[in-house]
Amino acid sequence: MSSVPADILQRLEQHDQAHVVAFWDRLDEAQRRDLLAQIESVDLATLRSLHANRDKPNATNTAPIDPVPTIAHDDPRAAERRALGESALSRGEVAVLLVAGGQGSRLGFEHPKGMFAIGPVSRKTLFQIHAEKVLALSRRHGKPIPLLIMTSHATHAETVAFFGENASFGLPPEEVSFFQQGTMPALDLATGQLLMESPGALFLSPDGHGGTLTALAKSGLLAKLSRRGIRQVFYLQVDNPLVRIADPEFLGHHLAARAEVSSRAIAKNGPKEKMGVLASVGGRCTIVEYSDLSDELAHAADASGRLRLWAGSPAIHLFSVPFLERVTGDPDKLPLHLARKKVPHIDERGRHVEPTVENALKFERFIFDVLPAAERWTVVESLRADEFAPLKNATGADSPATTEAALSEQAAAWLTAAGAEVPREADGSLVYALEVSPLVALDAAEFAEKFDKKTTIEGPRYWGDASVDR
Ligand code: UTP
Repeated sequence: MSSVPADILQRLEQHDQAHVVAFWDRLDEAQRRDLLAQIESVDLATLRSLHANRDKPNATNTAPIDPVPTIAHDDPRAAERRALGESALSRGEVAVLLVAGGQGSRLGFEHPKGMFAIGPVSRKTLFQIHAEKVLALSRRHGKPIPLLIMTSHATHAETVAFFGENASFGLPPEEVSFFQQGTMPALDLATGQLLMESPGALFLSPDGHGGTLTALAKSGLLAKLSRRGIRQVFYLQVDNPLVRIADPEFLGHHLAARAEVSSRAIAKNGPKEKMGVLASVGGRCTIVEYSDLSDELAHAADASGRLRLWAGSPAIHLFSVPFLERVTGDPDKLPLHLARKKVPHIDERGRHVEPTVENALKFERFIFDVLPAAERWTVVESLRADEFAPLKNATGADSPATTEAALSEQAAAWLTAAGAEVPREADGSLVYALEVSPLVALDAAEFAEKFDKKTTIEGPRYWGDASVDR
């Protein structure tokens, strides 16, 4: 029987973490190897200092927080910018990066969130809607678009199997890559000791969407993209089915500015909306979390009465490949954020503990912390109805009901623009659920080209791949 390697034991003792090998004698050799690998992946000194400083406020940047310069959603250069973006797509220089490693705890769905059926009529899943947008865009521009999907240990196996079972939703399988983000342990809030999930395993959770950067480089995919001539990576989060993936106009603004990073902005619906804001801090593009914004700043208005910090972030970005190569050189570039959570675990006798109050410190990195590293950047405004309807909660705001309604409203707007009469209730809501497949149209103009103006809407309608009214 092997014993705990002396150097590891010493390191654990030095950091008061020797309890993690308390059940060593009960483990088989494979479990021991796994546990040692987990221990080796953990930076005990950093965790100790994070725990010691848990009550100190975040290192506050003392530079003033100013509104960020933005390009308006109705910018007059639209056609020219769109042409620029389209030419990059036609040269095959753009990849799409979908992050789908989160645990979706607020939604309470027992599978990866991307498998949630959200199409208001078709019941298509979030994954299918995103994949079909990528497919439609690549057909339109005559070049394959690589789709990179970041998963985590919590979502990987099911996500890969789901794409397999669904023939990658029509995408060439060789253009779809999966890579897993890293994990972070959780600490007991009071003692700073690592929490154990089972006698042979630490409690580990995904390291936040900021983990994308390191994982992309570590997986070798970033180098592969670069070798293939990909110059720009469009970043989206799995929970927003309205996102205009690699929108040529957005891409064009990014390219025209020779930006390293570009971000979408949408107007916050009020000072209290729980949404990070894009701001200029010390001349750098920065996202300030809503919880870090003073009440005074959150409510401040400009001369026209608009919120001064109006530019909410829907978590949609473009990154240039050289920028990604530069920032992934330093894996600690992004800070760790601390969160107090309820984490079930086992105690020193191996008994399961289900906490009723917050008992643990968890750590995550956020993708937007990389924005200030960009030397050149743009922020481009979108209208919420065109771009953002995230699925976060089981009920209420940002729930299946609101996300489905937003998809139906988008179809209704495209129908109206195409000349159709869309039935509405007295309160203005839609009478019927409506949906347009991305394979039929990616925008109002494309829909109008395909839509038969004589069509009347007398029930829920889905414009699917083969069912365009002609
Ligand atoms: P959220 O921060 O909203 O988290 O993720 P979530 O996992 O979807 O939901 P909750 O907070 O547990 O309820 C925003 C996006 O970032 C991804 C998610 O998959 C989602 O696309 N994400 C989040 C990751 O890829 N990895 C993470 O570690 C965290």
